[in-house]
Amino acid sequence: MREEIKEILLSEEQIKSRVKELGEEISRDFPEGDVLFIGVLKGSVMFISDLMRSMKVDVNMDFMAVSSYGLSSETSGVVRILKDLDFDIEYRDVIIVEDIIDTGTTLRYLYDYLKARNPRNLKICCLLDKPERRKVNINIDYKGFEIPDYFVVGYGLDYAEKFRYLPYIGILKEDVYKKDKSN
Ligand code: XMP
Ligand code: MG
Repeated sequence: MREEIKEILLSEEQIKSRVKELGEEISRDFPEGDVLFIGVLKGSVMFISDLMRSMKVDVNMDFMAVSSYGLSSETSGVVRILKDLDFDIEYRDVIIVEDIIDTGTTLRYLYDYLKARNPRNLKICCLLDKPERRKVNINIDYKGFEIPDYFVVGYGLDYAEKFRYLPYIGILKEDVYKKDKSN
């Protein structure tokens, strides 16, 4: 384990088995297949690629990039679209795949933005949920894990673009981000 990580919150095995369950659940809900996953870059990359491989029906993917956090660990509350979809989603079964829902600002914005393009179904699949931090009400259709209010990294999640490669989800030591704030 890296010295910046205080504790492993979710092990590689725990993530793997939960992602498999989520894939099976989504597959049961969309038996005709032709589902489109929309991954939110970059945090959801590991999750979306594992989730796709646990699907039992035909699925495709597209990506969006939004910015709300910049390089720090605090949200600015402002969402900006940096990369839009490649595909038309009208009349399609679409699932937004996100790494973590915190205040809910990002997903609320994305959901409304995509809903306006008239998909047949629009669902939300989120690996992690920090309910204590919620500011905006949002319904999560498929949820991996609820977690306490810690800043977590790994399995795609970063702090200042670091730690995405870790195969587990770990709690970042507080002095790592406190140190950055003081300089
Ligand atoms: P909101 O507040 O809009 O935030 O729901 C969602 C985005 O915030 C980032 N985020 C985190 N990233 N560890 C991270 O690496 C965390 O604990 C964390 N909490 C929020 C993330 O980019 C997410 O998409
Ligand atoms: Mg994200």
